[in-house]
Parts: sequence; structure tokens; C-alpha cells
Amino acid sequence: MAELRIYEIGKNFYVIKSDEKDFHRNIYFRKFVGENGKMINMIMDPGTKKDLPNIMLVAKKLFGGIQNLHLIFLSHQDPDLTSVVPALMATAPRAKIIASIDTWRLLKMYGGIPEKRFLAVEGFKGDILNIKSTGHQIRFVNATYCHFRGAMMFYDMETKILFSGDFMGGVDSRVGEDVYATEESWDGIALFHEIYMPSSKAVKETINRITLLDPFPEIIAPQHGDVIKGGLLLDFLSRAYNLEVGVELLAKDTPEKDLTIMAINEFLNKIKEIYTSFHDRLVERLRKVEDFTPSFIFKGDEVSDLKLSTNDALKTIWKMIEALSEGEDINELRTYFISALDQFNVEPPFEVETSEDSGEMIERTGDLDGKDIEDLIG
Ligand SMILES: [Fe+2]
Ligand SMILES: [Fe+2]
Repeated sequence: MAELRIYEIGKNFYVIKSDEKDFHRNIYFRKFVGENGKMINMIMDPGTKKDLPNIMLVAKKLFGGIQNLHLIFLSHQDPDLTSVVPALMATAPRAKIIASIDTWRLLKMYGGIPEKRFLAVEGFKGDILNIKSTGHQIRFVNATYCHFRGAMMFYDMETKILFSGDFMGGVDSRVGEDVYATEESWDGIALFHEIYMPSSKAVKETINRITLLDPFPEIIAPQHGDVIKGGLLLDFLSRAYNLEVGVELLAKDTPEKDLTIMAINEFLNKIKEIYTSFHDRLVERLRKVEDFTPSFIFKGDEVSDLKLSTNDALKTIWKMIEALSEGEDINELRTYFISALDQFNVEPPFEVETSEDSGEMIERTGDLDGKDIEDLIG
């Protein structure tokens, strides 16, 4: 096993990464050290039971052991960040949980966490926690519906680091070690937000709350993906502000997407008999999970959903016809594909040759010609 790296992203503010290469967890530690030498130790979104050995190791290195952990901040209740909490509470007898009441309502279902060890964010006057013994201040910031109703972020006034939970998190699209975002990180952030954030209104309002912070954060530290700083911080926030996510994508996609899926299935069915081995190679490739989630969702041999735009889906298949051909007639395969799109009135998002030959072939293979589209979509 590779040695655990602890990254210091701000003064006494640390992060470790879980070892998944596609979608990892960031676990943050903060030592609040007062001028008087007093120390308050905190962990943010501690993770799963798998993370407990690493948490104990880091606690030992940073503040002499898990018994010296005082605070556990939870951005929301998802198991990727809370399932270690019952075990952690048992190993860190002094630790108290800080979370929203909405989070606690679900968190306590784990059982065995006494209510007196929970501090509600709503109980802190002005959303500010003053750590009197060290002189530090933490400001809590709502991330309402990003992606959970009671989601909460916190802003560390000394380091100007905003710990943002799932917000501005991403799946891993940047290659390489280290923890800081590059331009490559954006694709993973966009994908994660498109899937997990329910609406762009919620995203916009959360960004508005961030922009009101004074002083403005220098670093955004999310629970997944990369730590964002420098010029990318405002850049990524403004891109996120304009991103369509969740229900907007759902509402926008439906009619067009359904027809596209039907056309793809028509194509697959057609070539299944004529080009069986090519069909099997194509289906195998489309099913392959190379990214965070598969882009083509199958039920049996049929596509049931697309997790990418309809244009991207069609372009992918168009390219794969050439890439996966092992001696099959590429032109004929492409003609079958165009023919299937044509039957469902789906506009191809790529250049199609309109020679007389291919025109004939479209006619010959268009065995659904004459049927009403309403018959086909039920
Ligand atoms: Fe989550
Ligand atoms: Fe998460």
C-alpha cells in the first residue's frame, strides 16, 4: 500500500485522499492553535469505516492521537462521509458533532450517538462559532439543496479556506497526484454537479452566499475532487453558476432523448442479426465503465438511458463504427445507423454523405417507413 500523504493546504489545515482513482473522498483536519498554546482539533467529513485507520494515523501525527479530537463537522448525512461516525465517536470520547438539524435527524438513525454529543449549527449565534480558548472563528454557510436540504459548509476565517462538502466537488478528471485543481478538473466538477445537484437555482443561491463572504475565500476545499484556489476559484464558480444541472437537464432532455434511445436500439437490433460479432463488440464497448458512471445504461441488450447529451451519444456511436470494425463494411453499418435515426426523426449531429448510393440504402433498410411516430413511442 502506498504511504499516506498528508497535504497542508493552509496553516494547520490538512487533507488526506482516499485511494479511489475515479471518485475519491477528501478528509480534512484542522488544528486551531491559540497564542496561549491551547489547541482545538477538528475533522471534516470523516468518511467511511475504511478510513478509520488513516484517520487515527493522521490524528496521532497532527495532535497526538484520536483521543484529542474535539470536533467532527459533517456537511450532510451521506454514508461516504458519515458511516465512520459511530466508530469514530467511540474511539474519540471527547469529540462532538457539528451539523445542521436536518443532517442530525438522519444521522442519528445510525444509533448509539447520544444527543448531548451533537451541536446544531442553528444554535450558534449569527452562524458563527467562536473558539474562545484559541481565539478562532468559524462561519457556517448554508449550501441549501446542494445537494441536500440541510447541507452546510464552513468558512475558516484564519486560513480563508471554505470547506464546501459536496459543493464544488467533482469526480476525478484530472490526471496525477497532488490535491490542487487544474483546468482538467472542471469536467469532473461539471459531471458531478449535473448528476447530484438538483437544480441550478440551488447552485446559484449557494454561489451567491459564497460571494457575500468577507473576506472572500482564497481556497475552496470540497469533499470530492480537487482543492480549488487562485484564478480557478472565481472561474469555476462562474462556470458552475451557468451550468444546467439536475431537473433542468431532465426536463430539457426528455422527448429528444427518448427518440434517440429508440433510434440507437433500432440500430442495435438491426445489426444484431446481420453483423452479430460487430454488434457484440459495440455493446460491450458502450457498457464499459471507464468513467465515474457508464454513459450508456443498458437493460439486457437494449439502451435504457443516456448519461451524456444525445449529440455526444450519437457522435460516440458514429466514431465507434469505424474504430470497432474488423473488416465489416463501415459504410453499410453507418447507413444502417443513419437509417435508424431517420426513422425516429433524429437529426444526425455529424456530417453525413448524401451520395445516391447511401440514399438508396437508407430506403432499402427503412422498414419502419410509413409508420406514425406516435405508434412507435406508444
Ligand atoms: Fe453527498
Ligand atoms: Fe460526497
